[in-house]
Amino acid sequence: MTATLNIPDLIAKKRAGGEHTRAELEQLIGGYTRGEVPDYQVSAWLMAVFLNGMGAQETADLTLVMAESGDQMDLSSLQNTVDKHSTGGVGDKTSLILTPMLAALGLTVAKMSGRGLAHTGGTIDKLESFPGWDPEMPEDRFIAQAREIGLALVGQSKDLAPADGKLYALRDVTATVESLPLIASSIMSKKLASGAQTIVLDVKSGAGAFMKTLDDSRALAQAMVDIGTRAGRNVRAVLTDMDTPLGHMAGNSLEVQEAIATLRGNGPADLTELCTTLAAEVLLAAGQESDPARARERAAATLQDGSALAKLKAFVAAQGGDASRVDQPEKLDVAPGRAEITAPESGYIERLDAMSVGRAVLALGGGRERKGEAIDFGVGVETLKKPGEQVAAGEPVYRLYHRDGRGLERAQALLSKGIRISQEQPQAHGLILGRVQ
Ligand code: URA
Repeated sequence: MTATLNIPDLIAKKRAGGEHTRAELEQLIGGYTRGEVPDYQVSAWLMAVFLNGMGAQETADLTLVMAESGDQMDLSSLQNTVDKHSTGGVGDKTSLILTPMLAALGLTVAKMSGRGLAHTGGTIDKLESFPGWDPEMPEDRFIAQAREIGLALVGQSKDLAPADGKLYALRDVTATVESLPLIASSIMSKKLASGAQTIVLDVKSGAGAFMKTLDDSRALAQAMVDIGTRAGRNVRAVLTDMDTPLGHMAGNSLEVQEAIATLRGNGPADLTELCTTLAAEVLLAAGQESDPARARERAAATLQDGSALAKLKAFVAAQGGDASRVDQPEKLDVAPGRAEITAPESGYIERLDAMSVGRAVLALGGGRERKGEAIDFGVGVETLKKPGEQVAAGEPVYRLYHRDGRGLERAQALLSKGIRISQEQPQAHGLILGRVQ
């Protein structure tokens, strides 16, 4: 039998590069969540983790302790439950398209999503562009809707993995956010507590992403797949580019309009490709298809035959939203003001910085700096040219949708700074950068 260590001993063990047992992590992190261990001791432990890392089993154990720290969704009464997580990016409206595609493929999406913060948007905010759509409902209705339609989506409960909320706030003020095991356990604790059997992760890489390099993104993806697999879930990750914004639109209503076009089979190539790839990966991970080419065909068919669009309509209506806007997306609120950013010289677009686009949307009022702030659904930025395309001096590169000029000057400055033009045609790199399973 091992003796119980006291908290300073646990900190010393991690400082010396040791690996904790599940019981030790329960004592430390479980104790912290219950208010029995103070911030200063956990701060010291977080820095020891930041400097010395964690083993694979240790990271999985930490994640389970965090996942079990609050409410856990019981989806056991549903068949083929699947979930998707994106590490976040600019113009990432993938969930709006992918979740109805998955429902149309006969899978069950009973999902919790977040609101946007800083330069990244959130699925809940985007869905609230449908007047009346409600992200809250009792659990029995959530399960019943998921069973009937194959798609139910609610805001993330405060009681989901509360250990993560507390630890994240502490990491934020102790310079310990950028630690691979801490990021992986933070994301996966919420996914495991959300209950789906199959989870596909879209791990973004590039200027607009949390992870800037492909190596870092691959390491994060591997750590998360490892955690999920050890917890008995089917988990796969796709590594995708987030150097430039996805699709053309960034901003809530504008992204919903683009998602609807994609569900009609008329979406931008990159967005359509990403959603098809992710849906195929879910089919494979869930054991619903064994042939990758056939999985892609089945996924792509849901965008051509109207089945995914029909699921979106049923889902919006079931949660109180005005589903007629799915047929008439032009009636969604889009801000009336227009301005353009033009190319300063002729050449090829070498780079359009995704982060600048995200910050420009924020400046126009389409995002929030702090939790709880109200946002303007109608403002945003349209990317008119993509990297690799030729432009003439004075040709528009971005169109801004603003309300009475609010934040316009700042948005224009941000966007102008993020355009790079070259005289040689840049090498195109694909959207899908790799896979981890
Ligand atoms: N997103 C999370 O949920 N947690 C992290 O630690 C980083 C990004």
